[in-house]
Amino acid sequence: DAPETVTPTGAPTGAPKVSKSQQGEFLTTSQGARLRDTDHSLKAGPRGPILLQDHHFREKITHFDHERIPERVVHARGAGAHGMFTGYGTATEITKAGFLAKGKETQVFVRFSTVLGSRGSADTVRDTRGFATKFYTDEGTFDLVGNNIPVFFIQDAIKFPDIVHAAKWHPDREIPQAQSAHDTFWDFVSLHTEAQHHTMWNMSDRGIPRSYRHMEGFGVHTFRLINEAGETVLAKFHWKPKLGVHSLEWEEAQIAAGVDPDFHRRDLYDSIEAGAFPEWELGLQVFPDTPEETFAGIDLLDATKIVPEELAPVQPVGKLVLTGVPTNFHAEVEQVAFHLGHLPPGIDVTNDPLLQGRLFSYLDTQLSRLAGPNFMQIPINRPHAPVNDMLRDGFHQHAVHGGVAPYRPNSLDGGNPFTTDEGFLDIEVRVAESTKVRENPVSFDDHYSQVRQFWQSMSPVEKEHIVRAYTFELGKCYEQAVKERQVQCLANIDPVLCEQVATGLGLPVPEPVAPFAEVEPSPALSQVTGEWPAD
Ligand code: HEM
Repeated sequence: DAPETVTPTGAPTGAPKVSKSQQGEFLTTSQGARLRDTDHSLKAGPRGPILLQDHHFREKITHFDHERIPERVVHARGAGAHGMFTGYGTATEITKAGFLAKGKETQVFVRFSTVLGSRGSADTVRDTRGFATKFYTDEGTFDLVGNNIPVFFIQDAIKFPDIVHAAKWHPDREIPQAQSAHDTFWDFVSLHTEAQHHTMWNMSDRGIPRSYRHMEGFGVHTFRLINEAGETVLAKFHWKPKLGVHSLEWEEAQIAAGVDPDFHRRDLYDSIEAGAFPEWELGLQVFPDTPEETFAGIDLLDATKIVPEELAPVQPVGKLVLTGVPTNFHAEVEQVAFHLGHLPPGIDVTNDPLLQGRLFSYLDTQLSRLAGPNFMQIPINRPHAPVNDMLRDGFHQHAVHGGVAPYRPNSLDGGNPFTTDEGFLDIEVRVAESTKVRENPVSFDDHYSQVRQFWQSMSPVEKEHIVRAYTFELGKCYEQAVKERQVQCLANIDPVLCEQVATGLGLPVPEPVAPFAEVEPSPALSQVTGEWPAD
């Protein structure tokens, strides 16, 4: 089912095949009948009503009436581009994933997004940014579905509907559209204090990137890698932008949102068209695969924690260059469907409870967003590796499958049993808990020590920006109790931060209360100095 590739202007090979249907000399109906007139409906006389028999009118209007598909439930606002990934060959000792081999080129499609705003919202709002990459590898598609912030709000995917309900629009007035500046958001993050770390990244300059080209990307979760010899390591994925990490000033972001709501999208496409191709290096933080799944005392399955780069440097494994704008935004950017379970041999998931939940959610939402189970046949979603999946029929089935026995092995259709020595192999991991439980590991209870480290690593001007952001955003809350509870969280993070924000809001400065004190922060964190995270 691999697409026949043509090269439309500006797009690299690998962009989906462009339909020629609108380039003929004359218009036709969808059935190919030549049309004389598409401007006038068929009426009962020049001043009469339109006749039901005007099939061309009905077809044209009906198709238009159904042009929109549901926007993504999150990350609805985005922009995408085609490009090429080249492996450095530096990861071959730790993973057998072929696309990381030295000099190996793999076509990619990347979609950047905001999280909370609707499809038409402004680019430069304060928010997390999505950074999702589809690698069309020879061994099957690999989707690295990351963000520009290395931690997440919650530790368990079961809370995802709750954080999104709290952060998206209010159910009664649909205010606000894409800013984390309202009662429900602050209510959630002050009650679910594991969200404080991600929230401070949002309140920092990382929440208002200058452009997509100036953003880091993070796979956030820890993944498990396996090499040819069957040895495993744990790893976190990082994208490092060639241009470095830069942010907007808050005032710039506000002006851009009004003057040019497409600021980031325009920058992406203008720079590609000008030949200033955006570039990132892919890097890995690599950790021994121990039964505890910790590194330097940090729980690698807790998505609210980072591993400081001073403790585990990011090691470059390849380079990404974006060179092609989409030919058709709907076909490519809107219809692209990423999934964390799209993994090539050599990369596997871990038991991170956020990751585990995501493995269910993306396919589930795409079944309704893209209307049925066959959206993998949409050109942008087709693997560039050969497909022989035995999936059959269903709405929007475009393949005409031959044969009589879509199962393996079979004795009728040349259906030999699988060879077992090649292809994706689930890495055998001992499941530590044999008792069904809902509680978290104790290590998940430390919600503050890394937030404090983040704050302490900021320069004076960055601290000033963070204080201004908290004061401005919390200032939009109507509920005094919500503001006070969040200020209490700040007291648990740092007294200066708390005092400055409380004063800005005209609130009393609380003393820290420390539910977190029961959990010792990792001793390794006290070793971390200097800029954090490193750019
Ligand atoms: C969409 C990242 C957590 C559910 C996305 C997208 C990105 C992303 C980048 C946009 C994909 C695109 O461009 O099409 C992340 C990261 C997470 C996270 C980095 C945490 C580390 C979650 C969780 C859930 C979830 C916990 C649910 C349990 C969704 C859904 C979509 C989405 C439903 C829309 C997908 C679609 O309509 O195609 N996420 N996400 N995400 N995410 Fe997440």
